[in-house]
Amino acid sequence: MKPIEIVKGIYWVGVLDWNIRDFHGYATPQGTTYNAYLILDEKVTLIDTVKKEFADQLLDNIAQVIDPKKIDLVVSNHTEMDHSGGLPRVMHKIGEDKPLYCSKMGQKNLALHFPEKWNYQPVENGGVLNLGQRTLTFLETRMLHWPDSMFSYVREEELLFSNDAFGQHYAGPERFDDQTGEAIMPQAMKYFANILLLYSPLVLQLVEKVSQMGLLIRTICPDHGIIWRQDPSRIIKAYVEWSRQKPAKKAVIAYDTMWKSTQKLAEAIADSLNQTGVEAKPMHLRSHHRSDIITEILDAGAVLVGSPTMNNGIFPTVMDFLTYLKGLKPAKKIAAAFGSYGWSGEAVKLINQELEEMKFDLIDPGLKIQYVPGPQGIQAAFQLGQKVGQALKNL
Ligand code: FEO
Repeated sequence: MKPIEIVKGIYWVGVLDWNIRDFHGYATPQGTTYNAYLILDEKVTLIDTVKKEFADQLLDNIAQVIDPKKIDLVVSNHTEMDHSGGLPRVMHKIGEDKPLYCSKMGQKNLALHFPEKWNYQPVENGGVLNLGQRTLTFLETRMLHWPDSMFSYVREEELLFSNDAFGQHYAGPERFDDQTGEAIMPQAMKYFANILLLYSPLVLQLVEKVSQMGLLIRTICPDHGIIWRQDPSRIIKAYVEWSRQKPAKKAVIAYDTMWKSTQKLAEAIADSLNQTGVEAKPMHLRSHHRSDIITEILDAGAVLVGSPTMNNGIFPTVMDFLTYLKGLKPAKKIAAAFGSYGWSGEAVKLINQELEEMKFDLIDPGLKIQYVPGPQGIQAAFQLGQKVGQALKNL
């Protein structure tokens, strides 16, 4: 890849991963990027690295700008291996004794990933490092989304290296928001829903803190996807909006089915909701990836979960989905369960337990239909849709 100069003397030297389709359980149909950044100053600085298998490509990119051995220091904003996996190769190339700046938790976590005894330079929150013409200010962003996460800010350029925050899993020819336009926002939303949703309160606190500190931000350089240079406030405002989780008049119906009986109920509920003027999306769990369903749930006011009873329990894909949903802690949702059963019919009760644990507002005991829903069963599904639709309209 050809390095891209973002502002004078600061380069994108990252790599594109065109082929990845599963990022630890998150569907990435458009691949991803691992962004790393090079600052040419009196102290030549590398911000983050890339996934291990792309480390040589990173070094080749750097070599188009400067001999990698001239790098004076490395900053690791986050330990997860899509950003740190290339560290052993990079440190070996530039000199194992070169300083490696990270948060205190970063030092601890890096040492738990890599046996090398690097020259760690743990930094304090708010600590400043003078590079010559520019400075780096470090801002700890604990649990956004790992305890070691931090931002590095170049005050002189009003440029923020935000690591995972504000990223998108997207590989394409564009490097900047002015090149993608609005088309990048669904990717940014999916990224937020799957990586940061459970930390929404911390996102709001961080935005407030940055605002109080009076940090001016002209450019945001995340470690995945495009760089925000035309309108960085666009993505900050979107993060605030997504973090607030204001429920829209929209329902997501996530379900699986064995002999299409639960599917008939799901589609009748969707039809009913649509007739009340509520946008309803029936999403079959073997046709839609869980990471896409959670993205739809981000702004939905209602979540309905349907499962046939299988072996006295919940269908496996539905349990997988509920586990994923529970971990991401979406808030402010109306919910209900439904499903077809043969003889025992435990699934609805078990789903209700899961939804209650998630602190969703269960507005119905749930709809159970034995075997195949006839007109009465479809009517009951329709009534459930009406009930949910009315509750959404009253929000
Ligand atoms: Fe892109 Fe948390 O790593």
